[in-house]
Order: sequence, then C-alpha cells, then structure tokens
Amino acid sequence: MAQSINGKTAYITGASRGIGKAVALELAKEGVHVGLIARSKSALEEVALEARAMGVNASVAVTDISDMEQVNEAISKLEFELGPADILINNAGIGKYGLFLEMEPEEWKKTFEVNVFGTYHVTHAVLPQLIKKNRGDIINISSSSGLKGTAKSTAYSGSKFAIQGMTEALMQEVRKNNIRVMTLNPSLVATNLTFGDNLDEVDKEKYMQPEDLAEYMVSQLKLHPRIFIKQSLQWATNPF
Ligand SMILES: NC(=O)c1ccc[n+]([C@@H]2O[C@H](COP(=O)([O-])OP(=O)(O)OC[C@H]3O[C@@H](n4cnc5c(N)ncnc54)[C@H](OP(=O)(O)O)[C@@H]3O)[C@@H](O)[C@H]2O)c1
Repeated sequence: MAQSINGKTAYITGASRGIGKAVALELAKEGVHVGLIARSKSALEEVALEARAMGVNASVAVTDISDMEQVNEAISKLEFELGPADILINNAGIGKYGLFLEMEPEEWKKTFEVNVFGTYHVTHAVLPQLIKKNRGDIINISSSSGLKGTAKSTAYSGSKFAIQGMTEALMQEVRKNNIRVMTLNPSLVATNLTFGDNLDEVDKEKYMQPEDLAEYMVSQLKLHPRIFIKQSLQWATNPF
C-alpha cells in the first residue's frame, strides 16, 4: 500500500526555477514542508510564498552548493527552521557544452564543482539526519546524459555519470538504514537549462514539463518504504 507523505520535510536544491521549483510546489501540495536551496534569493522567496499559501512551512537557504561551508550553514539553518529532513532532492545543476578541446578548463571544472561536488556537499550534510531517523529518501537528478555520452557533452555527461555511480554506491551503503537513494534520468525537459530565453515559446504539449517530472517524483516517494525504483529514465513522447 502506498504511504502518505503529508507532514514530512523535504530539502530541495535548485528550487528557484525549473524542475526544482516544480517539485517543491508539488511536494507542498501534498502537505510536505519544504527547504529551498539555490543562489537567487528573490526567486526562492517567491517559491516559499507559493508553498506557504498551500499551508506548509517553507524556508529559504541562499547557497552556492559548490561551496561546502555554505552548504553546511544552509543545512543547519533549514534544520533549525523546519526540523530534520525526511526527503532530499539533489536537483541543482548546470549544463555547459562544447567540444572537448575547445571548452574552457574553468567551465569544465565548474560543471563538476556544481553537479558532482554540489551533490556530494548537500548529501554529506543531510545524510546524518536520515540515518538518525533510520529512514528517508534521496532523489538525485542525473540525466539521460548520465547513461549515454554525446558529442560536446564531456563535462555535463561526465558529471552525470559520476552522479550515477555515486548514487548506486551510496544506495548500497545505506539500504540497511531504510534509506532509498535513487536517480532520475530525464531526457529533454522544457526549462531554462535547455531553452534559455526561448522557454516561453516552447510548445507545452510537445515537450516534457518540469511539472511532469515533479508528479513522477511524488509518486515514487509515495511508494511503500519497502520498495523503490533505484533508477529510471524519463522520455518525452514526441518533441519533434
Ligand atoms: N532540463 C532538462 O532537459 C534536463 C534533463 C535532464 C536532467 N536535467 C537536470 O535537472 C536539474 C535541474 O535542471 P533544470 O532543467 O530545472 O535547470 P534550470 O531551470 O536551469 O534550474 C537549475 C537550478 O539549479 C540552481 N543552481 C545552479 N547552480 C547552482 C549552484 N551553484 N548552487 C545552487 N543552486 C544552483 C539554479 O538556481 P540559481 O541560479 O538560483 O542558483 C536553478 O534553481 C539539473 O541537475 C539538470 O542537469 C535537466
């Protein structure tokens, strides 16, 4: 039988827009208190207002997840304001693309600093809370690029493959603590990351929307705690 997630607490990275914002609001709709992490203060505060209007507690932690010290401070703030997490959604990420020899080394490294080290920093800070409760959920947003490399994607794809391996290994470590660690591997989703300034012109019926993934994540979280989908690939039906 499915479980209710009403009254649980989730921390979500990259909650200022796109997939992270959508999942934060979908969780709030289910009665989950939300801790919102990203760098853009005003955007986070708007998401917090929307969440509170649905009757849940919402806190904001303005943080660059590539900086471990900032992350540790952010997680302490969220724990103080909301209580410890039941759910962690590691969603924040950046997409930098280019031919391997042409990409600036700084851009290549930044991709790993945010996507891989950011996920590591946040998980490192939150995991003790879940272990203490002897239960919990961690969803790491990888990508279809975390399963298959394509030209001009060595940095992005490499970082998403790393998340894949990290997730699988951590899952094996903490299963005994009743903690479900999962990856999602979406293909193209209509967000700023993929469409930039053209996002408003995207045909909403054709492209996978952040809200579609948010609903999918909530359905995963509602599964009975004795089962979980450890890895899943989400495709849009017909974006062409
Ligand atoms: N869109 C797709 O087609 C697609 C497909 C597969 C996987 N994904 C993955 O899905 C995740 C969300 O992407 P999205 O499509 O929703 O992109 P998006 O609209 O660009 O959102 C990215 C989010 O990450 C945050 N972020 C970026 N750098 C950060 C940093 N250093 N510290 C803290 N937060 C940071 C951004 O907030 P601030 O700028 O306010 O910090 C924003 O909230 C990413 O991991 C992405 O790789 C996306």
